[in-house]
Amino acid sequence: MLRSAILAAARSGRVERLVQTAPYTRDVVRRFVAGTTTADALRVAGELAAAGLTGTLDYLGEDTETGEQAAATRDEYLRLLDQLSAADLAGATEVSVKLSALGQRFDEELAYDHAKVICAAATSAGTTVTLDMEDSDTTDQTLDLLQRLRADHPSTGAVLQAYLRRTEADCRELAVPGSRVRLCKGAYKEPEAVAFQGAVDVDKSYVRCLNILMSGPGYPMIATHDPRLVAIGEDRAKWFNKPNEEFEFQMLYGIRPEEQLRLVAEGYQVRVYVPYGDEWYGYLMRRLAERPSNLAFFARAVSGRK
Ligand code: FDA
Repeated sequence: MLRSAILAAARSGRVERLVQTAPYTRDVVRRFVAGTTTADALRVAGELAAAGLTGTLDYLGEDTETGEQAAATRDEYLRLLDQLSAADLAGATEVSVKLSALGQRFDEELAYDHAKVICAAATSAGTTVTLDMEDSDTTDQTLDLLQRLRADHPSTGAVLQAYLRRTEADCRELAVPGSRVRLCKGAYKEPEAVAFQGAVDVDKSYVRCLNILMSGPGYPMIATHDPRLVAIGEDRAKWFNKPNEEFEFQMLYGIRPEEQLRLVAEGYQVRVYVPYGDEWYGYLMRRLAERPSNLAFFARAVSGRK
């Protein structure tokens, strides 16, 4: 209920203005976002690598409305990949891309062309691209573009959202050799017809999907902070004899950093999703919707009380 209310309020222009201008908003943003510049992203990628973690960098932005914006997003990814390579960080750091930031909402082919250029740059830098998953009305299109991108760049990864009723079937389709699939719960507001609404149903779906991915020949990326699901991930690796090099755990920047390091100490690969850039609003609101304590932290900041 609270989650739905926050996600709905997040779409209001008034709420956006309030959040953008509130005192101390910057402090809240800093907890979840690396900073605004390419240099900030590289700095955090370096810090993660030094701690034995890997990273995936996301240049913030979604629902791009113009060709200029889409091209600027593509160019930022190209600059980032170039600099990751120059800093010798491409081995430990990949990029995550939202197709809507590349123009998917108004020109699917444009988004595909931009994504293809980014995938080619990632391949030459020696790293990979994962396509983020957004609202359910884009799922088919995103999976179609994924297949086209994989024809030239087979390491291109996808995100599947366990809250969608269709996802178990998508997991079966994508559980093939070389296929990188990031499994998350899902962060958008979706109707009951397409998505499980209760937390328990979402968790059960996550486990069913995890079973498919961990027993298959692909490369699962277990993206969750949920202690029970992390434990089930560890358990399934043993049960299905999946070596540590053939899957990884993933968490968001600023969330459960001590758990990220614990998993590394246990010998697992852990990748941290690091957003950066000015367009942090939508991302921040989804993080606030996930956890009441994040909301309390944010409310104190907005009201000026730390
Ligand atoms: P959930 O939010 O239900 O939290 C479960 C439990 O985790 C909590 O009860 C608590 O125990 C623990 N926990 C969570 N936050 C904590 C905190 N701050 N401190 C301590 N404990 C905490 N979504 C999407 O729709 N499309 C996408 O492309 C992506 N991409 C993506 C990449 C990566 C790497 C991750 C980790 C996540 C995404 N997501 C996403 C977001 C995802 O769908 C989901 O909204 C969040 O990960 C939150 O879900 P959890 O699985 O963490 O569980």
